[in-house]
Amino acid sequence: MVKMHMLLCVTFFILHLSSLMLVTSSPSSSLHYKSIFSFGDSLADTGNGPVIFERLSIFNPVTRHPYGSTFFGRPSGRDCDGRLIIDFIAENLGLPYVPATQAHNGSFHQGANFAVAAATTLDAEFYHERDIPGAPSKFPLNTSLEVQLAWFESMKPYLCPTERECKEFFASSLFFVGEFGVNDYHFSFQKKTVQEVRSFVPDIVATLSMAIERLITKHGVRSLVVPGVIPSGCSPPILTKFADDSPAAYDSKTGCLKAYNEVGMHHNSLLQAALSKLQAKHRNVRIIYADYFGPVMEMVQSPHKFGFEDVLSVCCGGPGRYMYNASVRCGDAAAITCVDPSARLYWAGVHLTEVANRYIASRWMGKINSLARPSSKGAK
Ligand SMILES: *[C@@H]1O[C@H](CO)[C@@H](O)[C@H](O)[C@H]1NC(C)=O
Ligand SMILES: *[C@@H]1O[C@H](CO)[C@@H](O)[C@H](O)[C@H]1NC(C)=O
Ligand SMILES: *[C@@H]1O[C@H](CO)[C@@H](O)[C@H](O)[C@H]1NC(C)=O
Repeated sequence: MVKMHMLLCVTFFILHLSSLMLVTSSPSSSLHYKSIFSFGDSLADTGNGPVIFERLSIFNPVTRHPYGSTFFGRPSGRDCDGRLIIDFIAENLGLPYVPATQAHNGSFHQGANFAVAAATTLDAEFYHERDIPGAPSKFPLNTSLEVQLAWFESMKPYLCPTERECKEFFASSLFFVGEFGVNDYHFSFQKKTVQEVRSFVPDIVATLSMAIERLITKHGVRSLVVPGVIPSGCSPPILTKFADDSPAAYDSKTGCLKAYNEVGMHHNSLLQAALSKLQAKHRNVRIIYADYFGPVMEMVQSPHKFGFEDVLSVCCGGPGRYMYNASVRCGDAAAITCVDPSARLYWAGVHLTEVANRYIASRWMGKINSLARPSSKGAK
């Protein structure tokens, strides 16, 4: 009995350890992606935001201390204390950190990141026409998925000299389409009811679907990772802005706002249905749905399993119930930073800490590794 118990403990320990170590282990030999291309928002932005915001004279706090204090040792243009999911995945695939196209002065042959903080799936006009989020805000900026695809298409001549070589190159590259959606919803929640915002979901998913179709049919892309959205109702800005007097608005187990999470679940379920359709249509392509919602919920539901002291407050912010305060932002002189970011799920705003990103990356890597890159035979 005792032996059996010890064996179980050891097995549990090893399993636990291996799940933590997955991201730092050497890349699987079956995968040799030549490059990573990434489209998305601040959850994947490795440095475009500061450049684009500066051009428009919009202050971007990620350029200040204590951003990057856990890893990089300086503000790196990421909205995090360290690495993002895309950074851990690049490390795991043996590729360089994916350079931000607006910030990097060098080669993009091993990766190009078009993701920009605050980017929406739908074009900015869709929101401006509806006064979302409304003046004096300049957001959303002209950095939608469509705009990022146009940036990618205009980079092609620098990446590959002929259409045939481009198709070969893109067929052996890994493409991230997203995360997209969080900004569409969070901007909209400022002005519209949850039900109205929910009615945008089909358009947003259709736009993602069309972008994926275009990458496959026009550019020969054969490996795509498409992340769903995070549980917005657990994120400190939403919890602060839409604090509800009614306890019924909250999930009693987690303290998250149910209605805002439901919009995300709806998005994720329509997205998965759309991806299944695309996968059925394009048999020689791999489309991986990357679950963002599930791992964040796991961390919210079982903080201690992940070593978290607090899962609904940001590590870096201002006074308030969730340490999120729109007038005292991380990076401001008056901001407060927690002692140990690795004991928090949220770093600043909706953005996760490096330790949370590492865990989510390990989950996504499991899926990326579970199927080898499709062979280049049969590429058209
Ligand atoms: C970009 O790199 C080139 C070559 O290394 C250098 O000559 C140029 O000044 C750089 N431009 C900027 C804007 O840093
Ligand atoms: C948005 O950006 C794209 C690509 O850079 C450009 O072609 C387009 O004219 C811009 N649209 C607006 C409204 O500024
Ligand atoms: C946000 O910070 C300001 C300035 O410190 C403070 O006056 C205000 O009460 C804070 N808001 C909340 C909700 O605590």
